[in-house]
Amino acid sequence: MEKRLMRIGVSLPGELLDKFDKTLMKRGYSSRSEGIRDAIRTYNQYYEWMQQIKGSRTATISIVYDCSKKGVTSTLAEIQHEYMDMINSSIHFHMEGNLCFEVIILKGEGEQIVDLAQRILSIKGVKHSRLITVPEEKKE
Ligand code: NI
Repeated sequence: MEKRLMRIGVSLPGELLDKFDKTLMKRGYSSRSEGIRDAIRTYNQYYEWMQQIKGSRTATISIVYDCSKKGVTSTLAEIQHEYMDMINSSIHFHMEGNLCFEVIILKGEGEQIVDLAQRILSIKGVKHSRLITVPEEKKE
């Protein structure tokens, strides 16, 4: 395994970095580098976990987004229309400020569910998104 340490430079919004630093302090990390390494590992694990989702599944995708960001609401709606044969329903809850919380409930093939979840996650203005899936029970 490659043990050589690489140095990278990253540009981040100040607000995001402040929040990250506060979390690191609360969790007792000794350095920002260690925290970033951990965050990247978690990100990679999440991606690997998503790649394993296959077969018929029931799922929820929860999304927190800023509806004041131009185009977020319409992009989310357009994407959901593309997957309308899988989407059973969605719940929209208005949070403080311009934040919206949406939960999509769907059923379909694992790979397609993951595609949808990834497309949602990559929309600018989407702050958090989480996918939960349940495999279909095999009938005895
Ligand atoms: Ni809303």
